[in-house]
Amino acid sequence: MEFDRAKQTAYLLAADSIEGEDIGSYSYEHLRMPGAYWTLCALASLDSLNTERKIEITTWVLKCQHPNGGFGGNLNHDPHITNTHYAVLVLSLYNSLDLLDKEKVASYICGLQQENGSFKGDEWGESDLRFVYCALSCMKIIGKLDRINIDKCIEYVLACKNFEGAFGAVPGAESHAAYSFCAVGALAVIDRLDLIDRDELGYWLMLRQTETGGFNGRPEKLPDVCYSWWALSSMFMIQREHWINFEALTNFIIKAQDLEGKGGIADRPGNESDVFHTFFGIAGLSLMKHPGLQTVDPIYALPIKTLDSIFP
Ligand code: FPP
Ligand code: ZN
Repeated sequence: MEFDRAKQTAYLLAADSIEGEDIGSYSYEHLRMPGAYWTLCALASLDSLNTERKIEITTWVLKCQHPNGGFGGNLNHDPHITNTHYAVLVLSLYNSLDLLDKEKVASYICGLQQENGSFKGDEWGESDLRFVYCALSCMKIIGKLDRINIDKCIEYVLACKNFEGAFGAVPGAESHAAYSFCAVGALAVIDRLDLIDRDELGYWLMLRQTETGGFNGRPEKLPDVCYSWWALSSMFMIQREHWINFEALTNFIIKAQDLEGKGGIADRPGNESDVFHTFFGIAGLSLMKHPGLQTVDPIYALPIKTLDSIFP
């Protein structure tokens, strides 16, 4: 079996098509902004981003901004830090950050930082390591990193570290590969990877590769294509990617493709595909330099080509 570029491109372009008044069937209505990011970033990696949709999509993204500066997951949805980050990523893909009121975004994100260094996701107050990564990545991309308390961020990230060298969602929580990505990504954005014990974390992440070739997120869990990104990108950031069996991981992702039906990639072989796992499968393949894919940057999760114009 091989990666079916034509089938996956067609699947993603179909998700990016207009349905009635809709902006695209990227994902469920409340996940429209994340769905747009997963779909469009995967298309960009395939060199197939439909630029004819640029104005329509960037206009819709900007309409999802709330007067307080944050973005909702769709029109008239409440703002959230993750959707604000995804909105910035989508505008980045279309090289349209100049359309954004960056000061407003910065003030929204600053307002979510808490005393312990973490960030609330929204006004209701849930907070964990994900939002530290979202805040730092987003603020760096819009050139406003100096507006947040970096020392406090570091304090919180390190408080989420466990004895195995990996990270949990909040201080004291079980180690988890996706939250480890958030920790490593956050420290990478601020150039503080020196704070990580690379061998210790690399060893724990290496053990997440299962006999199937795919990665799980925690010991004893089933492998899942999205961890090809969370674990592999972390391994690249800490320069331990050579501890991974690329061939086995590539085969696992390839086997999770839907080749008979509508296309896309599932969380594991035999399951139903979705744009989330399709993006993370393609992004994982791109990190392993699969032919014909634009490499997705392990820190910012945008094609390196896109970042070249953001950080010239
Ligand atoms: C797994 O969750 C994933 C995470 C905890 C990481 C989420 C990261 C972000 C929101 C940051 C944005 C990321 C990018 C790439 C731009 P899960 O609840 O599915 O975990 P489970 O597999 O344990 O159920
Ligand atoms: Zn998954």
